[in-house]
Amino acid sequence: MSTMELAPLEAAKEAIALKDWEGARALLAPLVSDRPGGLPSFLLARAEFELGRPHIAAPLLIAFRAARPQHVGACVLAGRVFLALGRLDDAEATVREGLAVEPDNKVFPQLLDSIAAAHGVAEAFKHVAVIDNGYLRARRSGPTARMVKAAQALAAFAPGPDWPRDAEQAKIAYFRNATDIKRALRNYDPHLIDVSVRFDYVAWPKRIQEYVRGKSVLDVGCGFGGFGVGFLIAGASSYAGLDPAMDLDSTRAKNKRVRQWDDMGVTPRQIQEALPAIRLFQSSSEDKSFDETFDTIALHNVTEHLMQLEEVFAGLVRLCKPDTNVVFHHHNYYCWNGHHMAPNQPAQLKPDDAKQQTLYDWRHVWAKDQLPESSYVFSNLNQVRLDELRTIVEKYFDIVRWDEIPSSKPTLDRLTPEIMDNVRGVIPDIEERELTVNAVLGVARPKASS
Ligand SMILES: C[S@@+](CC[C@H](N)C(=O)[O-])C[C@H]1O[C@@H](n2cnc3c(N)ncnc32)[C@H](O)[C@@H]1O
Repeated sequence: MSTMELAPLEAAKEAIALKDWEGARALLAPLVSDRPGGLPSFLLARAEFELGRPHIAAPLLIAFRAARPQHVGACVLAGRVFLALGRLDDAEATVREGLAVEPDNKVFPQLLDSIAAAHGVAEAFKHVAVIDNGYLRARRSGPTARMVKAAQALAAFAPGPDWPRDAEQAKIAYFRNATDIKRALRNYDPHLIDVSVRFDYVAWPKRIQEYVRGKSVLDVGCGFGGFGVGFLIAGASSYAGLDPAMDLDSTRAKNKRVRQWDDMGVTPRQIQEALPAIRLFQSSSEDKSFDETFDTIALHNVTEHLMQLEEVFAGLVRLCKPDTNVVFHHHNYYCWNGHHMAPNQPAQLKPDDAKQQTLYDWRHVWAKDQLPESSYVFSNLNQVRLDELRTIVEKYFDIVRWDEIPSSKPTLDRLTPEIMDNVRGVIPDIEERELTVNAVLGVARPKASS
């Protein structure tokens, strides 16, 4: 491999480690055309697959595997890709070839299980078709007996593991996870499921599904409102979302899969008019009063933005039952990309970019005084430290889960003793951990006395 090729290849690997699939794709595509079937083909196949394009990944993998048939990672990926494409015989053949190379690899038996489940999924699609054909009628005048039967049959099918990114599997998951089939039918919309999957609004509800299935959910700082259907797919019995920035009549939403704003083709108002289990409010948490309580209160990447952090947590107490779970995912300001702007990861670093120069390598922490007053870090980020957050939450709740999620390796590799000294120059008591934890997944319950 030429040295010319090495730099973008390494950058692409870094982008992959950071799940920057678009970035990886941009770096890899030219390398593949120079050398079809080489390592870049395999890596590009991975990026294309993650971007939801298994049909593009498949030929890249076939070319790569022709040259490297014993490559175990390619066997795994090809198994997944063929599975996603419904090419179940190809998937099984590939997985069995992988097993022959590495009999102890635990992924292959899981893939064989998924392939077996996918055979079932093909059967399940017949039931999905019955419901897809009658869902509007079911919403108007109730489901027919045939639809109820189809939904009950679907509830017995296990969706494949990819239901956050595969709309057909998500439809099966919707009925599998539903705790009331008739309510599920009244709130079913195949187009909204499709758009929720495309915009990546299902992965977070799935990740916290143990706190979602069968629960009434309040989503504080819900953004556009697109998460509602994602929560219903994960089995929530109802969903209320509030956000002061939500425009009930705009179709503009963040496509999380590609981290870009896009037209979702549906407004929050249309979503809540279509699905009675979803309610959306353009309001801040402090301004909205509810005369009800919720089983689960979710805050996804919100706590770092709340300027009245303590007031918000204090206000959540009255929305809780004794066993409510408050589930929050907090993006830590003090990590490498805690400024929330570019560069989001080292692969995006442009040292000549004037704006990036003020932020990267923890400059948003140790050179904060050089940022303009209008900077996003002052207007939109509360800069709370991890232990401060914990202390605030513990004033009102008992913390039952606190998972500190580390930053990626390429990010951590950038933390030098000099940077540590720079940061300690402005925050003398800061710990290294505060600079390396990317996010916290926390769960809190009301204190027994409250
Ligand atoms: C980074 S966005 C996260 C949106 C969504 N949860 C997601 O993960 O896509 C943070 C959101 O918090 C909202 N927010 C800020 N202050 C709030 C408050 N006091 N009450 C409710 N939401 C708030 C913002 O309007 C913004 O949409």
